[in-house]
Amino acid sequence: MNAPVDLDHARIAATTPLDRLDPSNPALFRDDVWQPYFARLRREAPVHYCAESMFGPFWSISTYKDIMQCELAHKVLSSDSLHGGISIRDRDKALRLPMFIAMDPPQHDEQRKVVQPIVAPGNLAKLEHVIRERAIRILEGLPRNETFNWVDRVSIELTVSMLATLFDFPQEDRRKLSHWSDCATALPMPGGLIENEEQREAVFAEMLGAFMKLWNERVNADPRPDLISMLAHGEATRNMTPREFMGNLVLLIVGGNDTTRNSISGGVLFLNENPAEYNKLRANPALIETMVPEIIRYQTPLAHMRRTAVADFEIGGKTIRAGEKVVMWYISGNRDETAIEQPDRFIIDRARPRGHLSFGFGIHRCVGNRLAELQLKILWEEILRRFPRIEVVGRPERTYSAFVHGITNLPVRIPG
Ligand code: HEM
Repeated sequence: MNAPVDLDHARIAATTPLDRLDPSNPALFRDDVWQPYFARLRREAPVHYCAESMFGPFWSISTYKDIMQCELAHKVLSSDSLHGGISIRDRDKALRLPMFIAMDPPQHDEQRKVVQPIVAPGNLAKLEHVIRERAIRILEGLPRNETFNWVDRVSIELTVSMLATLFDFPQEDRRKLSHWSDCATALPMPGGLIENEEQREAVFAEMLGAFMKLWNERVNADPRPDLISMLAHGEATRNMTPREFMGNLVLLIVGGNDTTRNSISGGVLFLNENPAEYNKLRANPALIETMVPEIIRYQTPLAHMRRTAVADFEIGGKTIRAGEKVVMWYISGNRDETAIEQPDRFIIDRARPRGHLSFGFGIHRCVGNRLAELQLKILWEEILRRFPRIEVVGRPERTYSAFVHGITNLPVRIPG
């Protein structure tokens, strides 16, 4: 069984005039009804211009092959925050936050190289036992025969404690990391987590204060294998301005947090929606290996990355003009039937499960991809050792965002 198709949205997606179709409306993701809109774009307008949206005009790239082409065209399609950065939402130029995901070569390549060792195979092997020990502790602490929010008790808990390890940040303050991450990606709105950009800046200042303390401790000590020490000693990062340090912190906190968290939650949901796949997994836990990338494809924790054309760019018979915004919808490319067989089905034993777009492609391809997979793999190994079933017992609540494709509440019960 897959998630039921919402007939109203299937009709609206089919009948809205193409030039008025706006796939960026965050409500489509919160209500989990985005699928028919992107299916129509892939079919009828794979390179599509939306003239009006809450994020202004933008181009949508919705097929697998065109997304790959854009990812490889980094000389023409810039990630630089000076042009607008990597998310559909433009930030006020005065509040620009430099970080290496939102830089172009050569600066991007130099700064990326500084943190790369954190995910070198040797370091991942060392992290394995830490992840397992944390996963066991979290799972052993879960209640039986009682409804609880899986997102809070497991997904957030595991990812923040891992992130605290990567930064060598005090474990007792780890929940600050998820709070800062949530504030970094929240859409400002009345009554929301962040009501305006001033509030966001205040949160960032608090985060910077906490990390400056760690930086100051480590910059004069011998280099150590944690992210702050790496940045403090790295040739391309040791002279960063405080604002640049802040930007890279936001990148590493959001990168290592929301994404893995939402894959952990998504896995539980998808197995419940597809009981035959759950049975397959219980009968053969070795399938965790192929299930993990399938979860990451099916969830697509970051719905898109944005680029800005710095020169005219031809794609799919259309010309994107210099200065225009280009949105690569990974969430759509991952459902492209010309690239992935039966893409709307969650199948835990696919032949080539890592051929998805959730980690992007090209020079910005996710630094943490192997670490994210490792966390999910270990968590599922330990889950299967303990719990024959985790039952989803209520409707999931999702993030109001066209960028972070997330689950905020997943009520579950573990029969005991
Ligand atoms: C970049 C997704 C986990 C750190 C990215 C990009 C995506 C992504 C889509 C941009 C790719 C592009 O523009 O082509 C994900 C997903 C994850 C995940 C889906 C989990 C399932 C992590 C983790 C970390 C991390 C655990 C760090 C510990 C980064 C960094 C970048 C990045 C630093 C910037 C790379 C660059 O610009 O060169 N990630 N990520 N990510 N990710 Fe991840």
